[in-house]
Amino acid sequence: MEIFVVPTASATGSVAAGILAAVIRSKPDAVLGVATGGSPLPIYAALANHRLDMSSVRAFALDEYVGLPAGHPESYAEVVRREVTGRLHLDPANVAVPDGSAADPEAAAADYDAAIAGVGGVDVQILGIGHNGHLAFNEPGSALDSRTRVEVLTERTREANARYFSTPEEVPLRCITQGLGTILEARHLLLVVNGADKSGILAAALNGPVTSDCPGSVLQLHAHVTVVADEAAASQLA
Ligand code: F6R
Repeated sequence: MEIFVVPTASATGSVAAGILAAVIRSKPDAVLGVATGGSPLPIYAALANHRLDMSSVRAFALDEYVGLPAGHPESYAEVVRREVTGRLHLDPANVAVPDGSAADPEAAAADYDAAIAGVGGVDVQILGIGHNGHLAFNEPGSALDSRTRVEVLTERTREANARYFSTPEEVPLRCITQGLGTILEARHLLLVVNGADKSGILAAALNGPVTSDCPGSVLQLHAHVTVVADEAAASQLA
């Protein structure tokens, strides 16, 4: 595992974007795994400045809420369209998000795993980590070999995400999330973490036991992990 500690959140974006740019230059049809939330936003901003040919790059989002109306501005389909597809000038046909409005979300989840496998897997998976250690929406207790599936969000995650909605009740109760086993199949995991409020959980994930109580601890099982953290987030690392 390589760990880069940089002064600011903005610098996490520059470092992570540099890593992604090198991958895309060497493989113009690279498959990126993209995260939503606040942590990766500086990456997408910095990557846009690299002015790469992104026309063949493909992307798969980590997760999506179940039950938001199509086009809801906080659905991850819309967030990815704004923050990733738009900023990076990806071809929308090359970008996939789990279908949270599918009549059969479990079938949509299984189809999503098949679609990732169908393009040969993810080259670099961008990740953030939740305050309870969740990766994507794999909450504590998720099996370390879990697949893409429908999950119930914890109250803590719903509270954390309420900042994006007008009322806390609007945050959906369920989601489709890539599983921890699915995420571990990506060839390179790129975790970006900012802020002192993440320092405890980052230390637990990287230095603590590998346990489903802290889903982020699965990073320790992967052969190629890069962590980019600001100084505040890295302050409790061993
Ligand atoms: C987002 C995702 C989540 C976030 C995590 C951290 O697609 O899968 O696991 O990465 O909740 O969110 P932020 O970055 O907003 O602190």
